[in-house]
Amino acid sequence: MPPVTPLPKAELHLHIEGTLEPELAFELAARNGVRLPYASQEELRQAYSFADLQSFLDLYYALMAVLRTEDDFAELADAYLARAKEQGVRHAEIFFDPQAHTSRGVSVGTVVGGLTRALDAAEEKYGITTRLIMCFLRDQSAESALATFEAARPYLDRIAAVGLDSAEVGHPPSKFAEVYALAREAGLKCVAHAGEEGPPAYVWEALDVLKVDRIDHGVRCMEDERLVARLVADQVPLTVCPLSNVRLRVIEDLADHPLPAMLDAGLLVTVNSDDPAYFGGYVHDNFTAVRDALDLDGETLRTLARNSFRAAFLDEATREKYLKEVDAHEGEDAGASAS
Ligand code: HPA
Ligand code: ZN
Repeated sequence: MPPVTPLPKAELHLHIEGTLEPELAFELAARNGVRLPYASQEELRQAYSFADLQSFLDLYYALMAVLRTEDDFAELADAYLARAKEQGVRHAEIFFDPQAHTSRGVSVGTVVGGLTRALDAAEEKYGITTRLIMCFLRDQSAESALATFEAARPYLDRIAAVGLDSAEVGHPPSKFAEVYALAREAGLKCVAHAGEEGPPAYVWEALDVLKVDRIDHGVRCMEDERLVARLVADQVPLTVCPLSNVRLRVIEDLADHPLPAMLDAGLLVTVNSDDPAYFGGYVHDNFTAVRDALDLDGETLRTLARNSFRAAFLDEATREKYLKEVDAHEGEDAGASAS
C-alpha cells in the first residue's frame, strides 16, 4: 500500500490569529506575563461554543492578548505551516488583522516581521509557498482602515492583497471604497468577506465598489440568482469554509451545506478552514468532513483542489505545476471514482 497522503491544495481563507491553539496560547501567556481568564486549556476549549460570528470574535480578539513579540508571531505562523504541510497544503494565502494588534500597542512592523520570518522559511522547511493578506476590521471606521494602510506602506512589498473581515452585518463593503482604491493603486490584489452573515447586497458591493478578485465565504449568494449568474460569468472565486459555517451557525448542519449546489451552479468554489483552532479542523479536515456529510466523490474533491490553485494569487508557471500535482495524485482523497 502506498502511503496515504492528502490531496495537494491551496488554502486561501485562513486567519493566522485563528490558528492559535490553546497550548500555544497558554505558553505565550506565561512567557509574556499575560493573565488569561481561563484556568486551563480544557476550560478555554469549553468556551468554543459559538452562537454566531460575534460570539466567536469576542473570544478570538481576547485571546490575541498573548501575542506580543516578533517571535510570538513567527512561532504562531510556523506552527500553522507545520500543520498545513500534514494537510496537503502546497500554497497558503494567509490573513492577518493588524488593527487587532496595533490597538494593543503591537506595531505593524512587529506583526509583519514575525509572520514573514516564518513564511520566508516555509518553502524550504515545508515545501509551501505563501502570500500575506492584510485585513481591515470592518466594524472599525474607514479612517482607521486608511491609517492602517498608511502604517503598512513600508511593508507593502511583503503583502499581496488586502481583505475585509470581522463583524459583517451593518458594515457594508462600500464603507471601505477609499482604502481599497488606494490598495489597487499600490498594485495589491483585493478580497473581502461578504455574504457570510451579511446579505447578497454586500457581495454585489464587494464586486462593484471594491472591485475584489475573490469573495471570502459568499455562501449567501445562493439567495440571489442574478448574483450567482454574475459570479459564474466572471468566475469570481469563493473561499468557502464549511466547518466554520456550522460552528458559527451560518448553516445548521453540514449535510445542508450549499457546497454541492454551488458547484452545480458553476461557481468557482474552494474549501478552506477560516479559524481552524476554533472550528474543529484544518483544511484537509474540512475536505474530509464535506466528503462524508455531502457524499462527495473523488472527482469532486479533485475539482475543489484544482479550484484552489485556479483561484490563488500565483504566477502561471507555479499554478500549472500545482495543477499537475493534483492530476498526478493518488491517495485517500481520490475516493471511490478513482481506480
Ligand atoms: N468572519 C469574519 N471575520 C473573521 C472571521 C470570519 O469568519 N474569522 C476571523 N475574523
Ligand atoms: Zn474568515
